[in-house]
Amino acid sequence: MIIAVDGPTASGKGTIAKALSEHFGLPHLDTGLLYRAVGRQVALVGGNPDDASDALRATGFPDGLLEDPELRTEETGGLASRVSVHPAVRQALFDRQRAFALQPGGAVLDGRDIGTVIAPDAEAKLYITASVSARAQRRFREMHERGVPVTLLEIEDDLRRRDERDSNRAAAPLVPAPDAMIIDTSSLNREEAIAAAIAAVEEART
Ligand code: DC
Repeated sequence: MIIAVDGPTASGKGTIAKALSEHFGLPHLDTGLLYRAVGRQVALVGGNPDDASDALRATGFPDGLLEDPELRTEETGGLASRVSVHPAVRQALFDRQRAFALQPGGAVLDGRDIGTVIAPDAEAKLYITASVSARAQRRFREMHERGVPVTLLEIEDDLRRRDERDSNRAAAPLVPAPDAMIIDTSSLNREEAIAAAIAAVEEART
């Protein structure tokens, strides 16, 4: 069974995808990490993330880069969002994601275009969303715990910018697949969101 989990930044899709992978015993790929590695690689070599050829060159990043803790930062998230607008970058990362989805037994993939582009044939498609303020609050709490000095307003601005770029780009924009189940996590806690996602997958495969 292939499970596609899409949604905007800080919607809870990563947490949900991980929980689904454990519950159904399927391997999980966080596809955002691939775009983050491309963004980070561009920065490391002093390239320009808005330049298509610099970004394409960075898709040849070494695999070890996927372990770099810097990939999780807001700064790298912004770079990832910028390199991800280039169709050539998306194409270069396609085979790796498609092969992961097609492995025997199935897989869980989370990202922005899994249900629409990478695995339109997925048995279960979830679109995880939440209001900007709920997402900003969660991100703020996480960053506060890590001691990152940032204000709620800065986080909200950044989320809006990323949403805008991810949703309005020409290549594989962030949109729910027509057959995706939409889960709004704004008023759900972690356990409730996971339970809703498991129920949606169970329903999709019956
Ligand atoms: O999910 P994330 O925040 O780690 O993703 C970082 C950026 O990567 C996101 O802003 C857009 C891009 N991305 C994408 O375009 N397609 C995907 N399948 C996953 C991520």
